[in-house]
Amino acid sequence: HLTFEEKATVIALWSKIRLDEVGAETLGRQAAVVYPWTKRFFEHFGDLSSADAVMRHPRVKAHGKKVLDAFSEGLKHLDYIKDFFDALSKLHCERLHVNPENFKLLGDILVITLARYFGREFTPKLQAACQKVVAVVANALAHRYH
Ligand code: HEM
Repeated sequence: HLTFEEKATVIALWSKIRLDEVGAETLGRQAAVVYPWTKRFFEHFGDLSSADAVMRHPRVKAHGKKVLDAFSEGLKHLDYIKDFFDALSKLHCERLHVNPENFKLLGDILVITLARYFGREFTPKLQAACQKVVAVVANALAHRYH
């Protein structure tokens, strides 16, 4: 469970990031390098043949921003996040058939990307709060599978 302080900490951290940069890097790292099989979900975006092509692809960037925007909105609704993400969960589970394991993987990559972005400022305490938030989001998105 997230404490009030943890929520405030993550919201403050979040206000400092550029959503387009962090989003593109997160999605790019996931789809291009770390879990390349997730590329298959984005083949309709166009040329994703190399890691470079994925990370630079305008549609990957736009999509990364979209995903992080959804995260931002979720941060404002953490207390009833399952309800808040219900439609998005339905879309990913029932229409896109994204394996819910991928929500966790994306969360982990997001934390790694944030660590790189903030460097030393990303303390273990901050990491712990972020890990909780990405777990809560992954769980909410997987809700329709349960
Ligand atoms: C679409 C959020 C994880 C695959 C979307 C959209 C949002 C979103 C907001 C746009 C929905 C719309 O157009 O109405 C998220 C969040 C995630 C997440 C917050 C956090 C865990 C994933 C993962 C995958 C994935 C892990 C696959 C590996 C897709 C695909 C689309 C989509 C294929 C449709 C893309 C398109 O054709 O435009 N997601 N997503 N998502 N998501 Fe996710």
